[in-house]
Amino acid sequence: MSNSGDKAFYLTTPIYYVNDAPHIGHAYTTVAGDVLTRWHRQRGEKVWFLTGTDEHGQKVMRTADLNKVSPQDWVDRLVETAWKPNWKSLNIANDDFIRTTEPRHTERVQRFLQGLKDSGHIYAGKYEGPYCVGCEEFKLPGDLIEANGEKLCPIHSKPIELVNENNWFFKLSAFVEPLLKHYKDNPDACQPESARNEVVSFLEGGVSDLSISRSTFDWGIPVPWDTDQVVYVWFDALLNYATAVGLGDDPKSEGGIKFAQTWPADVHLVGKDILRFHAVIWPAMLMAAGLAVPKKVFAHGWLLVGGEKMSKSKLTGIAPSDITDHFGIDAFRYYFLRAIPFGTDGSFSWEDMSARYTSELANDFGNLASRLTAMVEKYCAGIIPSAAKDPGLESALQATVNRADPAMCALDFQGGINAIMEFCKKVNGYVTEKEPWKLAKDPANQKELEEVLYNTAESLRALAVLLNPVMPTTCEILWESLGAHATMGPISKQTISDVARWGQLPPGSSVIKSAVLFPRLDVSE
Ligand code: MSP
Repeated sequence: MSNSGDKAFYLTTPIYYVNDAPHIGHAYTTVAGDVLTRWHRQRGEKVWFLTGTDEHGQKVMRTADLNKVSPQDWVDRLVETAWKPNWKSLNIANDDFIRTTEPRHTERVQRFLQGLKDSGHIYAGKYEGPYCVGCEEFKLPGDLIEANGEKLCPIHSKPIELVNENNWFFKLSAFVEPLLKHYKDNPDACQPESARNEVVSFLEGGVSDLSISRSTFDWGIPVPWDTDQVVYVWFDALLNYATAVGLGDDPKSEGGIKFAQTWPADVHLVGKDILRFHAVIWPAMLMAAGLAVPKKVFAHGWLLVGGEKMSKSKLTGIAPSDITDHFGIDAFRYYFLRAIPFGTDGSFSWEDMSARYTSELANDFGNLASRLTAMVEKYCAGIIPSAAKDPGLESALQATVNRADPAMCALDFQGGINAIMEFCKKVNGYVTEKEPWKLAKDPANQKELEEVLYNTAESLRALAVLLNPVMPTTCEILWESLGAHATMGPISKQTISDVARWGQLPPGSSVIKSAVLFPRLDVSE
């Protein structure tokens, strides 16, 4: 999955509803996107990473009503006080942030829609059926569950509403065959396999045309030729991926050039709850407009609380700061990707997170770094000794990169991180076996002692680069403390393809004893 020429590796997260503040489920997706894009940047690729907010529709409008403010005031406040600061505090390096209330979005949505109308993909019709405002989705009767005589949305466990409106429809059904062919010809286009199977069987079951406008409220983008209607919020929201990069602009304009450099998206990262929107409706919209479809839609699993999808509406939402205040930001970024296979549901538990923090981050990684810098200070006057090579470590490092790179590129974050952390364990084993503190007791062993310390420092050099996409703040500190920044330049400029080349850490660099990378947890809290 690498791009050549001017095309950037373009990754998107869903744009989140701003009816409430973010919880760790939202952070899970965005952190995964951030880690993957940092990995691709570290591979030396051009990258474009988009996130943003979904601001129209009834869900947001009703929340604003309940709070007695206008929807625009509500979304402005939440975006500025909750969403953007949240991503900043989690160290998310997105290149752009799109809001669906921005003119750059609304204008391009209207132009796109008019284009579909003009080419005969849209017609007037009547929609009658159930709707879940939590999902902002027209439901099929078979999608619902029944409790106490009421029909409920299985995701939100809340009663659905009946909609009966004259709307505009998109001829979605015309794209069933092209979509089936697309997924047959491009198995990578929808991942993991379970997600692709779900989409294929959904398509095989037949798909009806889609109502793409609403007439009973006005918080949305007006349909250009019928301004009594607003664009259905999902139709509006999905287009963000393309409006943010200049959809429909003159190829010679700034937007048009950006579009050529980014489209089609390489990965749309989504939770499995919104897979069908992304793998059925969205590519059909693009096909209708004659545009390339995304290269991959990847659906990850849910973070569960009490066996159910964690959500604010069920009062099970955990704010990222509840975790980062205790464990730190990098441990948060690491934990979910390390602990849960991407694509599978996983339960969050404080116990498991504490255990991994202590054994993998504080003991295996943090201690290795602090032991090394302390020993270089003590036995080598704080200077990295002459270069040395341990064939076992050198080949283990190469094998690590050979495993980690394809795993990360395939969004197997757990596999990629495991490979790197296994190398970390191996380096710990090397230090334990060589016992440099014993070698230091006899000056006759100085050369061997220095070799052991160089090999350990060089391994840490590689670990810092490999873990940088996952834990950028910690790895930057480690990079500084190895004296690498002064001699090798910024950590962000080190490439994955070169990381296994042994002997890069320049002898003679001054090691700086740094703060502890992963402090002991305060158990009194
Ligand atoms: N606004 C739509 C998406 C439009 S994209 C064109 C939406 N927003 S949302 O705020 O509900 O966020 C949905 C996304 O947040 C999910 O797809 C998933 O990526 C993430 N998650 C929300 N809750 C989650 C969990 N409990 N677990 C994991 N991810 C979750 O849907």
